[in-house]
Amino acid sequence: MTTCSAPGKVYLFGEHAVVYGEPAVPCAVERRARVTVEPRDDERVRVDAADLSLDGFTVTWGGSIDDRPDIDVPASLVEAAMEYIEAAVRQARDAADAPGAGFDITVKSAIPLGAGLGSSAAVVVAGIDAATRALGTELDPEEVARRAYEAEHEVQDGQASRADTYCSAMGGAVRVEGDDTRTIDAPPLPFVVGYDGGAGDTGELVAGVRALREEHAFAADTVETVGDLTREGERLLAAADPESEPSDDLLAELGELMDFNHGLLEALGVSARSLDAMVWAARDAGAHGAKLTGAGGGGCIVALDTSTETEHALGYTAECEQSFRAELATEGVRVEAA
Ligand code: PMV
Repeated sequence: MTTCSAPGKVYLFGEHAVVYGEPAVPCAVERRARVTVEPRDDERVRVDAADLSLDGFTVTWGGSIDDRPDIDVPASLVEAAMEYIEAAVRQARDAADAPGAGFDITVKSAIPLGAGLGSSAAVVVAGIDAATRALGTELDPEEVARRAYEAEHEVQDGQASRADTYCSAMGGAVRVEGDDTRTIDAPPLPFVVGYDGGAGDTGELVAGVRALREEHAFAADTVETVGDLTREGERLLAAADPESEPSDDLLAELGELMDFNHGLLEALGVSARSLDAMVWAARDAGAHGAKLTGAGGGGCIVALDTSTETEHALGYTAECEQSFRAELATEGVRVEAA
């Protein structure tokens, strides 16, 4: 039996624009997906997934990958979760050169599904690492990231960037620009997450931005501007001491860029009333800055605040179902039990 875990992530800057070759800076956060894998004597794959959401709904199913579970959550989310697991299994079989390997897989995740926190990437990353290790093969995190990207790319019909999977595998803050992926230094940023209990359809939202960008030069400019502010944010992070708590000045400057980034995402049509309400609740509570994270449409916002005010205020915001502090996860994928 092998258990691996991998963190979810927030986008400090750059979601959507990263799809068009601009840089993005996602940061891994301490909300993990844990995947336990036990090799079987036959070629079957059984999946047991509980608590695939933080709140709102709980997914519990057991059965082979061929039997779709009968549960009370949007079918598309469950279908997607199963497809990610199937793709991870294919990658692990390939990596371990064991095309007929069967597994019993248990997934436990504290990352809300489809809410912009990289739940699918974390499950795929932890799943590939656990399944290959269970077969006696160890991959380094870069290789896990590469294979997890292949898996996501396959499930998302080529729409995925490398951001989520690379960040989840490596941990900490990373920068992604096209195929160029690297870890970067960042101080321990005081992230607070607000979750509206919903989810956005990443494929639809990406398609919407693509259409806008093709139709209007100003929308293409907006995407480029997101790239510019991301580069500005990278310069701020590079100048900071990664070992020390960030100064108020640094948080104010990063926060200003996050606010700007949210405005541009809003202009690109990927925010939602609930996300805007949470962003404003965070700002009113004194957060240094706040923005939606991930594809948008619903799901999560991320704010910077060292005090408890933002978390508290979000707790009283009608549109917010859950708020929590999310420490930067310095460790990416890791073995929990072998
Ligand atoms: O909502 P998430 O965590 O799937 O993030 C999607 C981020 C996009 O930039 C919109 C798409 C991508 O693959 O990078």
